[in-house]
Amino acid sequence: MKRIFPDSFYNLITLVGATVAAVSFGLILFLIALEFFSEEQKPYMGIIAFVILPAILIFGLSLIAVGIWREHKRERSGKPHGLRLPQIDLNNPRHRTAFFYVSVGSILLLMFSAFGSFKAYEYTDSDAFCGETCHKVMEPEYTAYQFSPHARVGCVKCHIGPGAGWFVRSKLSGAYQLYATAFNKYPRPIPTPIENLRPAQETCEQCHWPQHFFNEKKKEITNYISDEKNTKWNLSLLMKIGGGVPESGANSGIHWHMNIDNEVTYTALDRQRMVIPWVKSRSRDGVERVYKSTEVKPTEEELALATTRRMDCIDCHNRPTHIYQPPQRSVNHIMDLGWLDRNLPYVKSLAVQVLEHPYTTREKAADSIRTVIEEYYRANYPVIAAERHESIERAITELQKVYRRNYFPEMKHDWRQYPDHIGHMYAPGCFRCHDGKHVSEDGKVLSRDCNTCHTIVAQQYENEKLKMSLEGLEYEHPVDIGTAWKEMNCSDCHQAQ
Ligand code: HEC
Ligand code: HEC
Ligand code: HEC
Ligand code: HEC
Ligand code: HEC
Ligand code: HEC
Repeated sequence: MKRIFPDSFYNLITLVGATVAAVSFGLILFLIALEFFSEEQKPYMGIIAFVILPAILIFGLSLIAVGIWREHKRERSGKPHGLRLPQIDLNNPRHRTAFFYVSVGSILLLMFSAFGSFKAYEYTDSDAFCGETCHKVMEPEYTAYQFSPHARVGCVKCHIGPGAGWFVRSKLSGAYQLYATAFNKYPRPIPTPIENLRPAQETCEQCHWPQHFFNEKKKEITNYISDEKNTKWNLSLLMKIGGGVPESGANSGIHWHMNIDNEVTYTALDRQRMVIPWVKSRSRDGVERVYKSTEVKPTEEELALATTRRMDCIDCHNRPTHIYQPPQRSVNHIMDLGWLDRNLPYVKSLAVQVLEHPYTTREKAADSIRTVIEEYYRANYPVIAAERHESIERAITELQKVYRRNYFPEMKHDWRQYPDHIGHMYAPGCFRCHDGKHVSEDGKVLSRDCNTCHTIVAQQYENEKLKMSLEGLEYEHPVDIGTAWKEMNCSDCHQAQ
C-alpha cells in the first residue's frame, strides 16, 4: 500500500494522535451543524464545541508532532524506527471480511459517540444538571424554584442566557464553583446578590416585555393574628403595576415610573444593597433629581467602597424564583387553604414558632415540630388534643412540608439570608428608598404614602363590617400599635430579629 505521509508519520504515538484529532474534529463539525439546525439556543453546546473539543483536538495534534519528533530522533541515532503496518489486500477474502467488520464497527462507534455527546450536552443544559448534580449546594435554590412561577423556565435562561461572551464569563466562574464544590470550599449560605448575573435586559426581558401594560392587579391578602382564636383579617390591594409605551396610550404605575420613563441609578453601602444613601432619577426629557437620605450619611471612605448601579428588574424582583417564604406568610397560606385547622387555639403563633426555631438538620426539625405541637396541646388543651387528633396530625405533616420547602439548615439557607425586595413587610424592600426620608434638593420626597404603589380598597376584621373604598382606605394595623406603623418601617418589627 502506498503511504501518503512521510515515513516518520507511521508510528504509534502519531497515529493515536491523528485518530484523537480526527474524531474530535468530526464531533466539532457535528455539534456546529446541530447548533445551526436546532431551534433553541443551547448555552452549554458552546462550551463543548468551542472549548473542550478543541482542547482535545490540540492534544491530538501535539501527539502527532511528538511522535514525528521521536521518530526523527531515533532515525538520527540509528535506531530501528517506523511502524510496519499490515498490508490489506481486498482480493483476499479473509482481509475483505475483516475490513468489512472493522469499517462497520467504526461507523457504529462514531454514531454512538456522537449521539452520546449530544445527550451529554442536553443533560448539562437541563435543570436536573444544575439543580441536582451539585445536589447539596443547589438544593435550596432548586427546591424553591420547583414551587415558583418560573418552575418551567430553565436555570440557564436566567443565569446564562444566549450569546458567547456571557457564556464564557459564566463558565470561568463556573470552573471556580466546580473546584469549590469538589473540595467542599463553598460558602454557606451562598452569597447573594450574584455579582456577575447577566443584565436583566438579556434575560428577563427576553420573555417579559417591559413596555407591556399590566394595569392594576388585585391582591387579596388573608392574615391570621397570633391570638387564641387565630382571628382572621382580610385586605385587598390594587397593585398599580402599570407600564406601557406613550405611543400606544396608557402609561402609569410602578413599572412606568421606575423602568420605562426614568433611568434610576443608586448607590448601596452594603453587599446586599439594603442601605441606600442616595438615588438619582433621570426622566425621558433629561431632568435629573438626586434624592439623598436624611438619615444615612456615609463618610468619604464608605462612599469609595460603595457600588453604584442602574436599577433594573432584579432590584425589585430579586427573588422571582428562589422564593424562601417567611413563616408568617406560609402559615397564613396553609391556614387559608384549611390545611392548618383554625380551630386549634394559638395554632398560628405556635406554627410560626416551631418553624423559626434554629435546628441543625432537617431530620431534627421534623422530629421537633412533631414533639412540640403534640406536647403543647396535650399539656394545655387535653380535651382538644383528644378530640381533634386528626387536625393536629395534619398540622404536623403540613408544617414539616413547609419546613422542607423553605429551610435548609445544612446550607444555612432560609428567608432571613435572602431578603425579598418586592414589597416592604418582611424586609425593607421598596422602603429602602421610599421611606419618606429620601429628599431631593427641590424638596421632593420619595413618599411612603400607603396609596402611592397600591390602593387599599377593602379591609375587614373577622366578624366586623367590611370597609371598602375605591379611593383608598386608611390602613388599620391588625393589632393596636398606635401610629407606630406610620413612623417606622413594617420590617423594623416584622423582619427576622
Ligand atoms: C426566573 C429567573 C431564574 C431562574 C429560572 C433561575 N434563577 Fe437562580 N437566581 C435568579 C435571580 C434573580 C437570583 C438572585 C440574583 C441576585 O439577587 O443578584 C438567583 C440566584 C441564584 C443563586 C445564588 C443564591 C441565591 O439564592 O441568591 C443560585 C445558586 C441559583 N440562583 C441557582 C439556580 C438554579 C440551580 C436554577 C435552576 C434550578 C435557577 N437558579 C433558576 C434567577 C433565576
Ligand atoms: C424563559 C422565559 C422567562 C424568563 C427568562 C423570565 N420569565 Fe418571568 N415568567 C415567565 C412566565 C411564562 C411566567 C408566568 C408563569 C405563570 O403564570 O404560570 C412568568 C412570571 C413572572 C412574574 C409573575 C409572577 C407571579 O407571581 O405571577 C414575574 C414577577 C416575573 N416572571 C419576573 C421575571 C424576572 C424578574 C425575570 C428575570 C430574572 C424573569 N421573570 C425571567 C417567563 C420567563
Ligand atoms: C420598582 C420596582 C420594580 C421594577 C424595577 C420592576 N418591577 Fe415588575 N413588578 C413590581 C411590582 C411591585 C409588581 C406587583 C407585584 C405583585 O404581584 O404584588 C410587579 C409585577 C410584575 C409582573 C407580574 C404582573 C402580573 O400581572 O402578575 C411581571 C411579569 C413583572 N413585574 C416583570 C418585570 C420585569 C421584566 C421588570 C424589568 C424590566 C420589572 N418587572 C421591573 C415592581 C417592579
Ligand atoms: C433604589 C431606590 C428605589 C427603590 C428600591 C424603589 N424605588 Fe420607587 N422610586 C424611586 C425614585 C428615585 C422615584 C422617583 C422618580 C421621579 O423622580 O419621578 C421612584 C418613584 C416611584 C413611583 C412613582 C411615585 C410617584 O409619586 O409618582 C412608584 C409608584 C414607585 N417608585 C414604586 C416602587 C415600588 C413598588 C418599589 C418596590 C418594589 C420601589 N418603587 C422601590 C426609587 C426607588
Ligand atoms: C413604594 C411603594 C409602596 C408604598 C409606599 C407602600 N407599599 Fe405596601 N406594598 C407594596 C408592594 C410592592 C407590595 C406587594 C408585595 C408583594 O407582592 O408581595 C405591598 C404589600 C403591602 C401589604 C401586604 C403585605 C403582605 O404580604 O402581607 C400591606 C399590608 C401593605 N403593603 C401596606 C402598606 C401600608 C400600610 C403602607 C403605608 C405605610 C404601604 N403599604 C406603602 C408597595 C408599597
Ligand atoms: C412597632 C412594631 C410594628 C410595626 C412598625 C408594624 N407592625 Fe405589624 N404587627 C406588630 C405586632 C406586635 C403584631 C402582632 C403579632 C402577630 O399577630 O403575629 C403585628 C401583626 C401584623 C399582622 C398580622 C400577623 C401576620 O403577620 O400575618 C400584619 C398583617 C401586620 N402586622 C402588618 C404590618 C404592616 C403592613 C406594617 C407596616 C405598614 C406593620 N405591620 C408595622 C408590630 C408592628
